[in-house]
Amino acid sequence: MAGLLEGKVVLVTGAGQGVGRDIALQAGQAGAKVMVNDLGTSITGEGVDTALAEQVAQEIRAAGGEASSCAASVTDRVAVRTMIEQCQDELGGLNHLVNNAGILRDRMFHRMSDEEWDAVIDVHLNGARNIASAACDIFRQQNGGSMVHMTSTAGLCGNLGQANYSAAKLGIVGLSRSISIDMARSNVRSNCLAPFAFSRMTATVPAKGGAQNPDEEPYLEKIKKMASEKIPPLITALGSDGAAHITGQIFAVRGNEIFLMSQPRPLRSVHRAEGWTPETVLDHALPAMERDFYGPETSRDVFNWDPI
Ligand SMILES: NC(=O)c1ccc[n+]([C@@H]2O[C@H](COP(=O)([O-])OP(=O)(O)OC[C@H]3O[C@@H](n4cnc5c(N)ncnc54)[C@H](O)[C@@H]3O)[C@@H](O)[C@H]2O)c1
Repeated sequence: MAGLLEGKVVLVTGAGQGVGRDIALQAGQAGAKVMVNDLGTSITGEGVDTALAEQVAQEIRAAGGEASSCAASVTDRVAVRTMIEQCQDELGGLNHLVNNAGILRDRMFHRMSDEEWDAVIDVHLNGARNIASAACDIFRQQNGGSMVHMTSTAGLCGNLGQANYSAAKLGIVGLSRSISIDMARSNVRSNCLAPFAFSRMTATVPAKGGAQNPDEEPYLEKIKKMASEKIPPLITALGSDGAAHITGQIFAVRGNEIFLMSQPRPLRSVHRAEGWTPETVLDHALPAMERDFYGPETSRDVFNWDPI
């Protein structure tokens, strides 16, 4: 791994702790100059701790690497543009962006407030777009760059009590896909990664039957074994020249497993030469397709085997 990102500048958002911190530390070990971003919020996005990002930057420097820090909120478009300028001024540019910052405001859909909806969409979806948009200016000038956006199986598969988060995370997949198409002519690559990692975030995900449900104990024990250090190798690899042809993909990492996730394509088609009425849709089209309908599964039902 040593030297895989030599000569590159890597920006990781939300890198003051959890998965982002591990990604930033490994980027430093791989020879990158690292911009560590973190606003230092609570899990719900409240409060600010401007020291968090700098602590991780110090860890990278203490290990012999080069790093700067920035406590900008990814939701603040002006501050994000200033952060990209900081990458140029202090580290000499930008080559690999990891959109990782995130918050949660979990609530069953029928009880979710407008504020809970807006806050999560703003940090994940608008935040990812704000930074990608600012980074694209540099990437176009230098005719190259790469991005990895953190998505989630909550969006890809479904999850309980996370409509805001699931919508944002699936929105990020559409964003990434569009960037990979629109920016291909400038050699800009964009991929998504759905991590499974124990962090303060996963510790709060609503359990089936409530967090105190004793039947959940074995599952929660399994989650605790999913180390966040397992996530960075794929991100480091995607930022390197060895992955120069890889774009528009969705990956997942769970322990020692790496998954390439499917992307929606037509499953079945039905056709009537005379066209459709609501009655023929009911009698013919829907029954013909029904065998391939998806049930009300969650991420946990889809990934139902032991990861360890
Ligand atoms: N941990 C998992 O299993 C898991 C699963 C699926 C997806 N993810 C995604 O991976 C990413 C990292 O998750 P984590 O588990 O390490 O979470 P975490 O809560 O440990 O870290 C998230 C970081 O983002 C920062 N942040 C929040 N709002 C910000 C803002 N507006 N601007 C800048 N920084 C901000 C927080 O201060 C925090 O340090 C998130 O995007 C999350 O949705 C994680």
